[in-house]
Amino acid sequence: MARRQRSPSALLMPLSTLAVTIILSILRPAAATASAKQSWLDEFTTDGEVRSDFDRSGKQVASLVLDESSGAGFNSTQKYLFGEFTVEMKLVPGNSAGTVTSFYLTSGEGDDHDEIDMEFMGNSTNAPTVLNTNVWASGDGKKEHQFYLWFDPSADFHKYAIIWNDKNIIFRVDDVTVRVFRRYNDLPYPTSRPMAVHATLWDGSYWATEKGKVPIDWSAGPFVVSYRGYTANACVAAADGGGGSTCPVGKNEWMQREQDDTDRLTVAWARRNCLQYNYCEDGWRFPGGFPGECSRE
Ligand SMILES: *[C@@H]1O[C@H](CO)[C@@H](O)[C@H](O)[C@H]1NC(C)=O
Ligand SMILES: *[C@@H]1O[C@H](CO)[C@@H](O)[C@H](O)[C@H]1NC(C)=O
Repeated sequence: MARRQRSPSALLMPLSTLAVTIILSILRPAAATASAKQSWLDEFTTDGEVRSDFDRSGKQVASLVLDESSGAGFNSTQKYLFGEFTVEMKLVPGNSAGTVTSFYLTSGEGDDHDEIDMEFMGNSTNAPTVLNTNVWASGDGKKEHQFYLWFDPSADFHKYAIIWNDKNIIFRVDDVTVRVFRRYNDLPYPTSRPMAVHATLWDGSYWATEKGKVPIDWSAGPFVVSYRGYTANACVAAADGGGGSTCPVGKNEWMQREQDDTDRLTVAWARRNCLQYNYCEDGWRFPGGFPGECSRE
């Protein structure tokens, strides 16, 4: 099996590499966030215990609470067909083993659904949290790249972004691109089903931590994860489901966004230093041969 196991010390990457990353992210400033709304949680329906608060700078902070009786989440009331979706998250601190925190897009529950995932798999105290990225197209979803993060995601808020257009899906962490999932016209890709934005915190004991070996320790609960600074620069799908959509001014910024030289550098950097699992190296899961995109990346 090609699955690579790394000790947490592998996370301590050379300082020079980190410096390059920081410089790269400064060179390409984040898009202006003038559109940041105050009560962004109003655009969602909630499930379970969701607390809303405002931090000192006036940003709304939504916190999801997981206890033995229930997880929590929020779903956007609108569906989108392409866009740039950004949120800052502060993950569950301490012993978060067995918990799964997510920020994702999905077209629904059906067997042929589309989905774009960022999921954070909790871990024991001081063990690294894993970020699972995945893309589902027409119900086909074994396309995970999993990363160790280069910071403690529970110590403070960090920014996570999904850019989804008809050319590629770009996953970004603190304005650093860690993965680009490209579209090939002959291979599955989410192109037509509108998706809603979801955030959840739930008990994933049966698979999340060391493949299910470490369950949730409820005595460490309730578990809380916080979200703030949500923005969706995205085309809103018509509510009648007829396939129409309304796009915001300035959409070319993300609609035309493709992997550039900086992305190539940071994706290669993330592969070398942070990638912990790559479906394209897991032959055990694909006895009939790897998915087509694996040999084209
Ligand atoms: C959110 O979406 C999930 C999955 O589609 C669904 O099961 C749940 O009922 C939705 N919750 C709300 C509050 O809309
Ligand atoms: C949890 O930490 C262990 C090391 O203690 C590591 O092998 C594993 O990849 C980490 N993440 C998950 C989700 O199990």
